[in-house]
Amino acid sequence: MGIIFEKNRKDGTAVFLLNTPNSSYIITVLNGGIVSHSGWGRRVEKWSGNSALWKIDRGINLPDGFDLHNLSLDTLPQEYGTSGLSDFRPSAVEISLSDGTKALDLRYDSHQIQNGKPQLEGLPATYALNDKEVQTLALKLKDTLFDVYVTLFYSVWEQRDVICRWVEIENKTGGSIKIEKVMSACVDFASSDFNMLQLSGAWGRERKVYIKELVHGTQSIESRRGSSSHQQNPFTALLSKGATEDTGEVFGFNFVYSGNFLARTDVDFTESTRFSMGINPYNFSWNLKTLDKFVAPEVVMVYSKDGLGQMSRTFHDLYRENLCRGEWKDKPRPIVINNWEATYFDFDEKKLCNLADSAKEAGVELFVLDDGWFGNRFDDKRALGDWVVNTEKLKGGLPYIVSEMKKRGLKFGIWVEPEMVSPESNLYKAHPDWCLHIPGREPYLARTQLMLDLSRTDVTDYLFETLSNIFSSAEISYVKWDFNRSMTDVYSVKLDSENQQEVAHRYLLGLYNLMERLISKFPHILFEACASGGGRFDPAILYYMPQIWTSDNTDALSRISIQAGTTLVYPPSSMSCHVSAVPNHQTARQTPLAQRAFTAMAGTYGYELDMTKLSKDEIAQIAEYSELYKKLRNVVQFGNLYRLVSLWEKSDKVEKYAAWMNVSKDKHFAVVTISWIYAEALAPKIVLRLKGLDENADYKDLKTGNIYSAKELMHYGILFANMWAGNASEQILLEKVN
Ligand code: DGJ
Repeated sequence: MGIIFEKNRKDGTAVFLLNTPNSSYIITVLNGGIVSHSGWGRRVEKWSGNSALWKIDRGINLPDGFDLHNLSLDTLPQEYGTSGLSDFRPSAVEISLSDGTKALDLRYDSHQIQNGKPQLEGLPATYALNDKEVQTLALKLKDTLFDVYVTLFYSVWEQRDVICRWVEIENKTGGSIKIEKVMSACVDFASSDFNMLQLSGAWGRERKVYIKELVHGTQSIESRRGSSSHQQNPFTALLSKGATEDTGEVFGFNFVYSGNFLARTDVDFTESTRFSMGINPYNFSWNLKTLDKFVAPEVVMVYSKDGLGQMSRTFHDLYRENLCRGEWKDKPRPIVINNWEATYFDFDEKKLCNLADSAKEAGVELFVLDDGWFGNRFDDKRALGDWVVNTEKLKGGLPYIVSEMKKRGLKFGIWVEPEMVSPESNLYKAHPDWCLHIPGREPYLARTQLMLDLSRTDVTDYLFETLSNIFSSAEISYVKWDFNRSMTDVYSVKLDSENQQEVAHRYLLGLYNLMERLISKFPHILFEACASGGGRFDPAILYYMPQIWTSDNTDALSRISIQAGTTLVYPPSSMSCHVSAVPNHQTARQTPLAQRAFTAMAGTYGYELDMTKLSKDEIAQIAEYSELYKKLRNVVQFGNLYRLVSLWEKSDKVEKYAAWMNVSKDKHFAVVTISWIYAEALAPKIVLRLKGLDENADYKDLKTGNIYSAKELMHYGILFANMWAGNASEQILLEKVN
């Protein structure tokens, strides 16, 4: 199994070797109980550790005076750095103690190795399908003065290059302590020879890839918005210098949390790098009573020896198989039509039925009724919280519209934004204290709405009842769960002033609890998350809802970049993508239908346009794309993804086109997509070398009937010429023939 423990070594140390198929993560317990980090990288079978300790002059000696003379905590790689004593690097944990200090001296107390992976109570996390898949080390540390216990958990995957980490703090001091900072993972790398990759952006341009060189000092990304955010995704990768799509070492970190987070790298004077990731200490603290425990959410750490492509595929497989849950986990997802960009708030039954008629002809399988079906929601300024059908728009209520869809052979889905309330709503009138607000201050509005206080159980109980009623009032097969503003006025009237810094985290715990109850009660519903597009695209949400609306920007060219950044970490099955109208509603750009369709086919596919305005020919063309996607969807959603160019590698060539490939797990079927971003006259030719095929097989191009050996396709490639904008995207379908 993956965890080897070697105690009482000759030099008095003990070593934990955490092995995955291609990686090792090494922890050394030094005499005196100091827990040091010894390395993470390529797999080794044993560890001498002889060269791992760095001794310097003018270091600060440990008070115990044991034989590690001149070994300073200031330079020693630590497994979980503390503050207040002699480690001057940013700490992983800070706790205010009863003596008024935050000084912690954490030493080895005990450990347990168990098969399987324990659950993180109340928190989303990856899970093992059986006890053979994972082994978990619980490494318990204790402060030398106070009875504060910090347990570091490491779940080591047998068949994946993944280690999942989280932390539990237990207070046995007899009084209260205050956690001011708790990172879920901290890794001290021996060098600073890395580039740091982050996914940053904004509404409508989420998860753009940025890569920068590490230098001395701090480089961090964070969210303070109460959500994982459009601006920074809770993901960072450290790339060894020179790493590419297919070569070099890559270390990926993804936080399984949907709220405020911090991911930071600190390069110190010894050219070492400390990476840490966890709940953002901004606006956070937690009072921990004696005998209570606090669990900090999980960080997924992926190692790749073969570049970013392999890192992505490891994340994809883990998330599809060991994070997503429920009936829809492995089921091919339906093709949807969403009425948002088709009608916005302006619809009635007739309009929806007409749209459904065209959608049915175009091969759609499920109709999603977006915002505007409830209360007096005629625009986005009112009615959130009033979850009763607007009978001016839907005279027959939900049962009628569902039956109309059913008549047309379409399933039905509905939009909700349960976490919000409009000041102009009956809910707000009845319960003005249910929203987050600071007494004595006027709360800040965003999109004319306030956030409900989900840290309160009376609020989450109410939402559970209300949503349950809607979901059982008609045959609802799909729910789009939206979230359209950042968290401000973070205060709960239910908590004392000394606990107000807990509200943002308690909100998330309330949200997770609510989602858990609803998905358990309605297991057949396909839930899609959304947050003004991709403002909460994180693994925690995927634990409850297997797909997420990727971005409100549906422009094909914008989507190429957004989707490339998204699939760096998240599987295509999680990425909801729609074909929309031209000119595009967000960018006013015109792109050909083929390009819009092939771009949307990179994830879970659907439409978001007024099909009643399309000609018969256009509907017929769309129907062909729908039929094509039905053939491809298993491969796209559940196969392997290979990027044939990486948009972020800044060469003149790659900014002009994007190309990617989806290959079925058995390598029987492959889809190659190439899309021009920038058309040129007499552009240089493009040769795409394919990836991921069965090297010893032949493949047939299903359009031309040509047969190629996989070796030819992979080592010599396929030739493409730049195209006119009218035909700016191409797809090749390959099937194994022997
Ligand atoms: C934001 C979402 O991202 C859109 O798709 C749409 O559902 C609107 N909200 C509705 O208000």
